[in-house]
Amino acid sequence: MKQKILAAAAVAVALASVAVDAATPAQWRSKAIYQVLTDRFARTDGSTTATCNTPDRVYCGGSYQGIINHLDYIQNMGFSAIWISPITYNIPDTTAYGDAFHGYWQQNLYELNSNFGSGSDLKNVATALHDRGMYLMVDIVVNHNGWKGNESSVNYSSFYPFNQESYYHSYCAITDYNNQDNVEDCWLGDSNVELVDLKTENSTVASMYNTWITQLVSNYSIDGLRVDTAKHVDKNFFPEFSSAAGVFITGEVYDGDPSYTCPYQNYMDSILNYPTYYPLLSAFQSTSGSISDLVNQLNTMKSTCKDTTLLGSFSENHDLPRFASYTQDISLAQNIIAYTILSDGIPIIYAGQEQHYDGGNDPNNREATWLSGYNTDSTLYKHVANLNQIRNQAIYKDSTYLTYQNWVIYSDTTTIAMRKGYDDKQIITVLSNKGASGASYTQAIGNTGWSAGTSVVEVLSCTTTSVDSSGNLQVPMASGLPRVYYPTAELSGSGICGQ
Ligand SMILES: *[C@@H]1O[C@H](CO)[C@@H](O)[C@H](O)[C@H]1NC(C)=O
Ligand SMILES: *[C@@H]1O[C@H](CO)[C@@H](O)[C@H](O)[C@H]1NC(C)=O
Ligand SMILES: *[C@@H]1O[C@H](CO)[C@@H](O)[C@H](O)[C@H]1NC(C)=O
Ligand SMILES: *[C@@H]1O[C@H](CO)[C@@H](O)[C@H](O)[C@H]1NC(C)=O
Repeated sequence: MKQKILAAAAVAVALASVAVDAATPAQWRSKAIYQVLTDRFARTDGSTTATCNTPDRVYCGGSYQGIINHLDYIQNMGFSAIWISPITYNIPDTTAYGDAFHGYWQQNLYELNSNFGSGSDLKNVATALHDRGMYLMVDIVVNHNGWKGNESSVNYSSFYPFNQESYYHSYCAITDYNNQDNVEDCWLGDSNVELVDLKTENSTVASMYNTWITQLVSNYSIDGLRVDTAKHVDKNFFPEFSSAAGVFITGEVYDGDPSYTCPYQNYMDSILNYPTYYPLLSAFQSTSGSISDLVNQLNTMKSTCKDTTLLGSFSENHDLPRFASYTQDISLAQNIIAYTILSDGIPIIYAGQEQHYDGGNDPNNREATWLSGYNTDSTLYKHVANLNQIRNQAIYKDSTYLTYQNWVIYSDTTTIAMRKGYDDKQIITVLSNKGASGASYTQAIGNTGWSAGTSVVEVLSCTTTSVDSSGNLQVPMASGLPRVYYPTAELSGSGICGQ
């Protein structure tokens, strides 16, 4: 295992070394992102026992230095980028909803949230990542500033640089998600914590944001941005903001409808793939989930979104119940992770997913990673490492792997098989929702693109097999586990499965 993991890291470094100062969409396409809530990933003191009671919603002590100290843990899982919490100054007080440990209650864009460390600590995160050929993605908020209290008590001069009421929409609560003006111009939050909504459509506000983001990216050597609550922001804000940032941007458009969500990709490089998340979860959260809904959505996304290969592919994040809160079945967890990493797009794994954390809705899904002891022997840690490693190998062997859109070569009520890549260098992924107690069966899979007799390795079990004389791959399914095939010839020198 150790040897395999080191090989993955070497591939990641080799891939990224040409790219650290570019940070273009094309460069990001090859990345795999590990998402951390800065407050919850690692502490400066290295504690693996410090209390972090999620319902309390208070700062638990995670820091930039803690991240730096645990980059081996992340990189040895095959990741080549991290996404951290918003870095700016937030509401300093405890509110009815606890502390701003998540970073989404920004008040001053030109000051940092000192709970996570200093500016030089943050710069050291970027340096430590770049030294490893990894990228830094920073979460940012442009839709609102946070205020502790109701709409009539907002003290606008406590914000910076948006310190006048005229920079903001006048108060109204969002009441109608079918009315886009209402979604963009009214306020999120409530009388305990208002999210005071900026007039991002105003050219003065936009230009102040553009000045800020140019500086922020430069000051902290940021390689990419994740934009919070993007669907609450005027779409036309994003093109100029993106140019000012000069780096890759993925937006949070929290909506499952491809026809609503995909158009945002015409205004920014990428969006998080919420439309796939819902049918993906449904397909694997139980042994009776619908595979056909997932297949249909995969096809709909390809025909609706500008470029599915740039979407953020995820199955957990800090806003959603953990997968294991739906089912503790470890095979189902392995399948949904395999889909997340091997389908189109930039894979994103949320810290704790590799430890099979099972917190439900926010705040329970924001567990401290340190309480796992950073166990590198856990089933899912090794699984994520194996999957990132084979993806990195496919990228290394075939420059078109990433832009080849995966397609479904077989499906039935419990099985989905996908192909990504070509010229004999494709990965074939076979997933099942039969679960850990599922019976064994052999599934013949055609359309693999491999000719009869081709030697391939199932890289999760390190089993070598050959495509049969009629050109089918005979896939031995057992215990509901995913199967991932790659040509034996292309593994040479990789260290994968001892090759
Ligand atoms: C808003 O908050 C202020 C200060 O806490 C309070 O005096 C006022 O009654 C509140 N207004 C409403 C409409 O709740
Ligand atoms: C509003 O905020 C400013 C800047 O922090 C502060 O000087 C002022 O006292 C505040 N006003 C009120 C009424 O609290
Ligand atoms: C934009 O906001 C500024 C500052 O509040 C204001 O002076 C200006 O009139 C606004 N521009 C438009 C086009 O609304
Ligand atoms: C960037 O750094 C400069 C120089 O220290 C500073 O004046 C500016 O406020 C910083 N901007 C941001 C957004 O951090």
